[in-house]
Amino acid sequence: MTSLLFVCLGNICRSPLAEGVFRHKVREAGLAHHFELDSAGTGAWHEGNPPDSRSIEIASKYNIDIGDQRARQVLPGDFDRFDYLLAMDHDNLAALRRQADETHSRKIRLFLQHPELDIPDPYYGDGDGFEIAYQLILRGCNTLLKDLKPS
Ligand code: 4NP
Repeated sequence: MTSLLFVCLGNICRSPLAEGVFRHKVREAGLAHHFELDSAGTGAWHEGNPPDSRSIEIASKYNIDIGDQRARQVLPGDFDRFDYLLAMDHDNLAALRRQADETHSRKIRLFLQHPELDIPDPYYGDGDGFEIAYQLILRGCNTLLKDLKPS
């Protein structure tokens, strides 16, 4: 079993989408039993809220349902609980590194690894940002599944 926590700032736009896309991919690959997945935000403003309607919409455009997710903040226990904490951008990567102690630092990675890129925050922009986020997240999830697939 491999456990992954997808992390952005608010846990209402990017990380719920990444969790939903990756869940969809592992189900398609028949590997759902092999992964424990969750998402969280480094900020707490949206705690308990469903994903942003624009994230729900872009996911559903690609036949993925993320409507049941609820936002939560990263908890101290997450650094023990998860094998990898995957940050959507360098700001959240830095925030996770500040919170983690030395023993957990190897678990903290940028989500988009090859090449190392941010998923830009789509929250304040207009429509396109969510399509761009989805496409980058899809690419990241494909790479991640290749890297973590049991052999
Ligand atoms: P997310 O997007 O980090 O992808 O969930 C954001 C959502 C809300 C805020 C910022 C980013 N906010 O400032 O409320």
